[in-house]
Amino acid sequence: MSNRLNTTPNDLRAFWMPFTANRQFKKEPRLFVGAKDMHYTTHDGREVLDATAGLWCVNAGHCRPKITEAIREQAGELDYAPAFQLGHPKAFELANRLVDIAPDGLNHVLYTNSGSESVDTALKVALAYHRVKGNGSRFRLIGRERGYHGVNFGGISVGGIVANRKMFGTLLTGVDHMPHTHQPGKNAFTRGEPEHGGDLASELERIVILHDASTIAAVIVEPVAGSTGVLIPPKGYLQKLRDICTKHGILLIFDEVITGFGRMGTPFAAQYYGVTPDIMTTAKGLTNGVIPMGAVLVSSEIHDAFMSGPEHMIEFFHGYTYSGNPIAAAAGLATLETYKEEGLFDRARDMAPYWEDGLHSLKDLPNVIDIRNIGMIGAIELDPIAGEPTKRAFSAFLKAYENGLLIRTTGDIIAMSPPLIAEKHHIDEIFGKLREILKSNI
Ligand SMILES: Cc1ncc(COP(=O)(O)O)c(C=O)c1O
Repeated sequence: MSNRLNTTPNDLRAFWMPFTANRQFKKEPRLFVGAKDMHYTTHDGREVLDATAGLWCVNAGHCRPKITEAIREQAGELDYAPAFQLGHPKAFELANRLVDIAPDGLNHVLYTNSGSESVDTALKVALAYHRVKGNGSRFRLIGRERGYHGVNFGGISVGGIVANRKMFGTLLTGVDHMPHTHQPGKNAFTRGEPEHGGDLASELERIVILHDASTIAAVIVEPVAGSTGVLIPPKGYLQKLRDICTKHGILLIFDEVITGFGRMGTPFAAQYYGVTPDIMTTAKGLTNGVIPMGAVLVSSEIHDAFMSGPEHMIEFFHGYTYSGNPIAAAAGLATLETYKEEGLFDRARDMAPYWEDGLHSLKDLPNVIDIRNIGMIGAIELDPIAGEPTKRAFSAFLKAYENGLLIRTTGDIIAMSPPLIAEKHHIDEIFGKLREILKSNI
């Protein structure tokens, strides 16, 4: 038995924590010192039920033996191999296994170390693709309001969250944004895909008319926007975006960093919606969140366009020291095997109706102004306290943590995405605890 309580640090000042209210945290620290399957263990020895798969990433649950063992073994066998002009077998094997579960036509893989890097890689591939095809005038990138594509400069430029953008100067130039699709006035308390708003995709046509298609390289969207509070695409919306992109020779990028690896009951959201992008970004669930790794999948058409010129020349000037790192690749392979052996994507599909019913049973609680869900994703939107936005949801987060439940909040929205191993009794516990919390006067 490890002596967990002794792992509590006595000075929290040095670490400037990411996306965290640092001063609040350091007054009332919340530290995890262990995890197994559906639960975390806190520094004060309590069990916390994980309703968020860590940060949308631990899809197979915590400390799964196959993944742990693969990492241990790989660390002792081949710790690092240079990523440029050299390779190692597992990076190739993992790429093949990814292509096996990807939408048809996405046949090539570039590795990264995070979702943010996947996004910036995808944007660079799109720009460079048009250039190698002789269409260098296609330099514009189109994102969407309320989109989250990580925190690097490309990602925040196409992203649509003002707090993530406003501090950082001019960002990338040549970027425009489509409107978001969230219409609570028309779609509140919808189960699954909203009826209203599919026509918002035609805003892309308006942008194309404004800039001319010959200047536009790519459109990037999250199939389901997660970080701004679970915005589910209205019926027909993604297909319409696909059609407009195809018509105008614009590449469509799906940012599947949270929707990938079974979250929707299919390997990727592209398959759930039956809409195939030209480029797809992934990370998080690729290694079950255990080791940083991302992957960008691209069509053969894009890949092949680069394969010209003298054979001794580098075809694409991009990559990371840790692209396809051996330990990450081993973790990725063991993760995909775990998903497959345990049928976790099908499990998510089968559990989704139970999840939906539990979530919508909270409809009549005080301050609940919308509930939405798709696959194993759910959100509860709360009425903000007048003059104190985000406080109501943050109080719910703190109360949940005290009561042994991990939820995530963004603005005044509670977002949840449990590990795909969740049993019905875990789902009952999540919504039972939330009911008590929302009933109390937060
Ligand atoms: C859709 C999407 N893209 C990109 C990212 C960034 O991923 P990372 O934090 O690994 O850089 C996230 C993170 O939540 C995300 O949800």
